Formats: sequence, structure tokens, C-alpha cells
Amino acid sequence: MAFAVVLILLVVGSILFHLLSPWTFTPLASNWSMVDVTVDITLYVTGLVFVAVNLFMAYCVIRFRYKKGARATYEPENKKLEGWLTLWTSVGVVAMLTPGLFVWAQFVDVPEEAHVVEAVGQQWHWTFRYPGADGKFGEVDAERITSDNPFGMDPDDPNGQDDVLVYSPEAHIPLGKPVKFLLRSKDVLHDFAVAEFRVKMDLVPGMDTFLWLTPTVAGRFEILCEELCGIAHHTMRGAVIVEETADYDAWLAKQNTWAMNSTMVAGNAAVGGAQYAVCAACHGQQGEGLQALNAPKLAGQSAWYLKRQLQNYKSGARGAHQDDLYGKQMAPMAAMLANEAAIDNVIAHIQTLADEAPATTVEGNVANGAKEYAICAYCHGKDGLGNQALNAPRMAGMTDWYLKRQLENFQQDIRGQHPTDFYGFQMGLMARTLYGEQEIDDLIAYLNTL
Ligand code: CUA
Repeated sequence: MAFAVVLILLVVGSILFHLLSPWTFTPLASNWSMVDVTVDITLYVTGLVFVAVNLFMAYCVIRFRYKKGARATYEPENKKLEGWLTLWTSVGVVAMLTPGLFVWAQFVDVPEEAHVVEAVGQQWHWTFRYPGADGKFGEVDAERITSDNPFGMDPDDPNGQDDVLVYSPEAHIPLGKPVKFLLRSKDVLHDFAVAEFRVKMDLVPGMDTFLWLTPTVAGRFEILCEELCGIAHHTMRGAVIVEETADYDAWLAKQNTWAMNSTMVAGNAAVGGAQYAVCAACHGQQGEGLQALNAPKLAGQSAWYLKRQLQNYKSGARGAHQDDLYGKQMAPMAAMLANEAAIDNVIAHIQTLADEAPATTVEGNVANGAKEYAICAYCHGKDGLGNQALNAPRMAGMTDWYLKRQLENFQQDIRGQHPTDFYGFQMGLMARTLYGEQEIDDLIAYLNTL
């Protein structure tokens, strides 16, 4: 009898949970309302069967419970009952599968006028490519992928020259126009999913997959990788910005093409040297860093990382948090670099500075730190020298007190919480794998041995 009561409570509880639960679908932001309809139909069919089967079971437990001397009748065949069960099972299965077929027919039938955006996935971030003015993508080949050519572009393909390459995991698309996302993976299985769009698709190495949609609501929608793709899978986020066509066009016009990227001139170290005089006041003449002024070592740090941080400081993606005391000092200094060329020049000068090992200031258990660093090494490298392809800067041989402060800032959401600081956000999630100050000290003590 207790069992029957539990079954009935389970049914009532499930229905109440469904009706009262605050966890519902995110609001729909695309043309794919059909997906919601099919999900609803599936829920009603399975829900109905769940209720019917469990209540029937409870009924049987009560109705046919043990009575002394009672005997069950044996009835191996019941044509009529089997007929009804077969019929209703078929109706249920057909009701669940048929709408999906209609949705799939539309899903594979991309509208002619859809414009195309390529989303490229890799462990653990997204980049995007737009076909440019000619509307045609240039050829790409995985064998050509290098740190200077992360898309594997063919330098001789005329179609590729005007391809727009977006190195940030933030794609823009115009509101109300169908868009086809071509999906490509550089390494392992990933999955491109935006909950509000309702459609998602796997990225398969060696294959081009796609999905399409017409965005119906303007806004910023998070991309989640929904295929387990390694240790930092949960940090593989991005965003799709849906905006008015005029805003989209303006954004697209500001992005660099492949031709612009490949002809970009390197910074001028001599010009940058003059500009660096201001930086030297805190960071030192040789970029060696000065703890008393909270200025980290710059010499020896990768150019791409310094550039991104300067740009983040300029845009407010870094150094805007009210508790980021030293970041707030750096932001106005970065703002003095008027444009990208000025940033490149200063960085070119920093590249010429002597890279000397700084004094160690953090003590800890090296053996423990080595174990903790195993996770960091996936991106920052076993040698701690960083890896541009994974957006991971150099950590070995840099100022240790600065690394400690940054790890703490990441843990406390002082750094990495700005919506456009994607890699900072990733690091914030990873920094949470360290518990307490001792673990941070151990990790940094190990880094000091590299
Ligand atoms: Cu990429 Cu999970």
C-alpha cells in the first residue's frame, strides 16, 4: 500500500513540478517555433504515458493486493487488449516522430537568400569568418593552420582576400534576415548551440556541417559548446549579437579582412620606444616590473597577449571593476595609446627589452604546485611559456606576485567578468579549480621553477 501511495505522489509531484517550476525554456529568438511545438508534443505524449502507466500500476497494487486464499487467473492471450495497446503505442510514436520530420525538412532546406557566416570551433573557443564583398569564401585547409594563419586560409585564393576574419568569439548578424552558420572544427567534436535560437549542430573535424535561422529578437545571445570537448569544455562560450542591419553593416565594415591581416605592418620599435617612456616610469626601463608600484614585468611576454590586454584596457573590458585598484590605474595609461598602430609600436619596443628572470617573492610547496599545474599546462604549456592558439599567455619567468594577484582577482570576479573579456571569463572559471591561498602559492612556487 505504501508503494502505491509513493507512486501516486510521484505522479502528482511531477505534474506540480512541471506547472510551478521556474525553469522553463529561454524566450524564443528565432523562426524555429516549430522546435518548441515538437518538444511540447513529445512532452505531452510522454507525460500522458508516464501518468497513465504509474496510476495504472498504483491501481493494480491496491486492487489486486494480497488476500489470503485468492488466486490470480492466468490469461496469456488477449487479442483485443493487444490490439488496443499496439494501436495507441503507434499513435504515440507517430505523434512524437512526425513533427520532427517536418522540422528536419525545413532545417535542411536553407533559404536561397540566407547569408553565410562560418563558425570555427577549437579547444576552447570560437572564431568567425564572413565571406566579404564577393560573397564567396576563400579555400581553407587544416594543413595551413599556423599561429599567423589560424583559419588555414589559402594565400593565393582570390576569393579569400576579402574574407572578414573575426578573432573574437562574438559574431554579429542582422535582425530578421536568414543566416546560415557553416560549422568547422579544428580538433575535436564541438557543438554550436544558442538556446534562444532552438537549433544546434555538432562540429565534426574533417566535415562541414551547418544550421540556419532567422533571428527575430535583437540582443546578445550566448553560444555554448554542447559537446564534451576536453578539460575546459565548460569555458567554451561565445556570443551572437543580433542587431539592426545598419549596425551590423557598420560593425562588419570595421573588421579586418584576410588581405589586411596579411599585409599588416609590424610595429615600429623606434617610435614605440619614445611612447614607452611613460610606461617605464612604473614597469621599468627594461620592462622588468616594479612590485612597489604594482607594475608587472612586461619583457618576454608574448606580443599578442600584451596587445589584447592593452586593447581590453582601452575598451573597458579590463580595469573597469571597482575593486581592481591597479587595473583602474592602468586603464587611463592604455588610453594614451591613440590607436592600434601606437599599441603595435610600444609592443615592438617591449619585444626588444632584455628578458631577465625576476626575483621570486612567493613561497609554496613545489610538489603540490606541480600537480595543480597539470590542468593549467593544457593551455599555458608544460613549460609555462604560453600558447597563442589557446589564448594562454606566458606565466613562467614573469613576476610571481602579479600572477598571484591576478589569480585572486579571477577567483573573486574582479577580473574576467566584463561581457567582452571572453578569455578572462574562461580563466575565471579555471581559477576556481584552486582552493585557498595556499594552493595559489604552491602553484606559483612551481611556476618559479620552470
Ligand atoms: Cu567545445 Cu565543448
